[in-house]
Amino acid sequence: QQKRRRYLKREKGVAMKSYNVCIVGGGSTYTLGFLKSFVRLREEFPLKKLVLFDIDAERQEPIGKYGEILFRERFPELDLSYTTDIKEAYEGMDFVFMQMRAGGLPMRAKDEHIPLSMGMIGQETCGAGGMAYGLRSCVDMIKAVHDIRNYAPDAWILNYSNPAAIVAEALRREFPDDKRILNICDQPENVVRSCSRLLGCNWEDLDPVYFGLNHYGWFTHIYDAHTGEDLLPKIRETIAKNGFLPQDAEQRDQSWLDTYGMVQTIMSDFPDYLPNTYDQYYLYPDYKVQHLNPNFTRADEVMAGREKRVFSECAEVIKEGKLGDRFHAISDAHAEMMIKVAEAIAYNKNSRHILIVENNGAIANMQDDAMVEVVCELGINGPRPMRVGNIPQFYLGLLVNQVSSEKLIVDAYYEHSYEKALQAFTLNRLVGDAKKARKVLDALIEANKGMWPELK
Ligand code: G6P
Ligand code: MN
Repeated sequence: QQKRRRYLKREKGVAMKSYNVCIVGGGSTYTLGFLKSFVRLREEFPLKKLVLFDIDAERQEPIGKYGEILFRERFPELDLSYTTDIKEAYEGMDFVFMQMRAGGLPMRAKDEHIPLSMGMIGQETCGAGGMAYGLRSCVDMIKAVHDIRNYAPDAWILNYSNPAAIVAEALRREFPDDKRILNICDQPENVVRSCSRLLGCNWEDLDPVYFGLNHYGWFTHIYDAHTGEDLLPKIRETIAKNGFLPQDAEQRDQSWLDTYGMVQTIMSDFPDYLPNTYDQYYLYPDYKVQHLNPNFTRADEVMAGREKRVFSECAEVIKEGKLGDRFHAISDAHAEMMIKVAEAIAYNKNSRHILIVENNGAIANMQDDAMVEVVCELGINGPRPMRVGNIPQFYLGLLVNQVSSEKLIVDAYYEHSYEKALQAFTLNRLVGDAKKARKVLDALIEANKGMWPELK
């Protein structure tokens, strides 16, 4: 039916439009997956022009050159360029995909190492490290979105820069009337895809119901999209017996397999719902601290692994002048998801996606102005969240605590307030004590000099 609708639109000449896309953070290790996915999905989402933008020319260049070779082989009519200039990047864009990493991977390493060295969770987006990254991202994201609006007032901004929860709250405050900023994370969809692996079905035949904050949520139901049967009891039973693996387990590092593995523990303690994998940090902080290595965290693993692989793939391709079989090496779920989101908007598909939106009653017993993550229908007029009603006290308690911490860190950004930052840190479950909060906050202020607003 969808194919037919597309065909009809083509007849009328509507779908013949092709789109201009900019990727902010074009030098990221995720970009190759996007380049390949844009080729694979060129029928569904036709591109006219693609611009890769990065403030770091040295990272951008090899990925840009790789793109030139890839598209010459497989998508020669595409107009590809890469740049460090904001006007070139944003002017005339229909969609801007935002995947910036404020401070780069070296700062991610500090976000993880510093709290862990003090016996607290050190993680990219959760706890003290996540708040540190949050303050850097507030600075860089708010500036970037103003720049985009200057050159492309009507472009859709699809943001998956982290920490998405804090970034979404900051953008909500800075651009209250802007209806074309969408915040999204791939983790819920990754969990759904992993269920499909476990059930032996196609992930698109699963119809999830989900609530939470970004990196802190639960699936209340996973329906069979055709029969309506709730498959969650079966998923629970299978996980209890066999554990839980990511859909693309064969491509994952051990730390990710450990993370998915924790879903079994979470569901044995809290069997109501299927958790987001990040819930492990909030539910078992002591256990996780004991099992993480403060001298070699996920950031180190990424720098030694994915980052090396991506840049050596670029170097090889540039040297050989061709991609050849490398095109088939990886299919990238995250990139495909983002392109499908753009497609939903471009073709007004009203398809379902799990998105980060202002609550306004979607979770009935949470405050209206919380940025929550729920299933939405998505089309040209933006997301329409689907209500989940009241959530049980346990989950409400966890989420109200976390959303308060997230809001306070954004207050700290706007007010340049040390006191608000201290409150955010103290309240956060992964810090949880005012003396510890002050100690880790002071160390992070030192490490983030010049990248944070000055807190007074
Ligand atoms: C998931 C999350 C992202 C996060 C990423 C980190 O995809 O949804 O928000 O950035 O994991 O993955 P990495 O492999 O870099 O540790
Ligand atoms: Mn995410």
